[in-house]
Amino acid sequence: MRLLFLGDIVGRSGRIAVQERLPELRQRWTLDCVVINGENAAGGFGITEAICEDVLAAGADVVTLGNHSWDQREALVFIERQPRLIRPANYPSGTPGRGATVIEARNGARVLVVNLMGRLFMDPLDDPFAAVERELSACPLGEVADAIIVDMHAEATSEKLAMGHFLDGRATLVVGTHTHVPTSDTRILPAGTAYQSDAGMCGDYDSVLGMQKDEAIRRFIEKTPGSRLEPGLGEAALSGIAVETDDLTGLAKAVWPVRLGPGLQESWPVAWDARSA
Ligand code: FE2
Repeated sequence: MRLLFLGDIVGRSGRIAVQERLPELRQRWTLDCVVINGENAAGGFGITEAICEDVLAAGADVVTLGNHSWDQREALVFIERQPRLIRPANYPSGTPGRGATVIEARNGARVLVVNLMGRLFMDPLDDPFAAVERELSACPLGEVADAIIVDMHAEATSEKLAMGHFLDGRATLVVGTHTHVPTSDTRILPAGTAYQSDAGMCGDYDSVLGMQKDEAIRRFIEKTPGSRLEPGLGEAALSGIAVETDDLTGLAKAVWPVRLGPGLQESWPVAWDARSA
């Protein structure tokens, strides 16, 4: 099966890029499952119910979150009635919503999607390694799940790599989000798990991590309160990772970085275009 994971949608320009391009990509690449991180979709901070519905309507099967999960307070309520929106599984017990979900992919396969948050240079949460162990033991790859996608929302590449190796051979894809900068370590780990330390963002790359440059630069120079950071308004690029899985094992057979749009050197699964043509 064919999976696409896209990194953090930042603001309106990121949403427009997803809405304009994802329906075509779903068809062109005959994608079975699409997961997108949406924690910065509402003006850079959180997600609203209307935006979540738009992202799902554009072709996402599951939307994941992170440290900005609750910036839009309404998310605390509507996450309870939206099973395709998940927040990090290692929030304290009692937190609204769920940290994992199983969906039926376009090809009928059962896909477990787990959202985690790192603890290095982030808010202290419960242990993400213990949290993912619980989710995977309830729904193991090859027994209950046909594919498992893990979004590790974290700052430190060391913690993301540790999670990748921890789950190697037990998940289809472990991908980092949060830094908004795509890393070039797209690969398949020794036991068959696809991995990339950070998916990058779906946003305006002529910016500082998706936010307009002037205020972001000023904050580094003048240590005084300024105006609110606002998302860049330029055309956004999509960024993430594409995975072809082995239907028998649920592990990765091939993997490609995806970067489409202005600001980054473009990359996509050309093999999928060739076979689809
Ligand atoms: Fe984040």
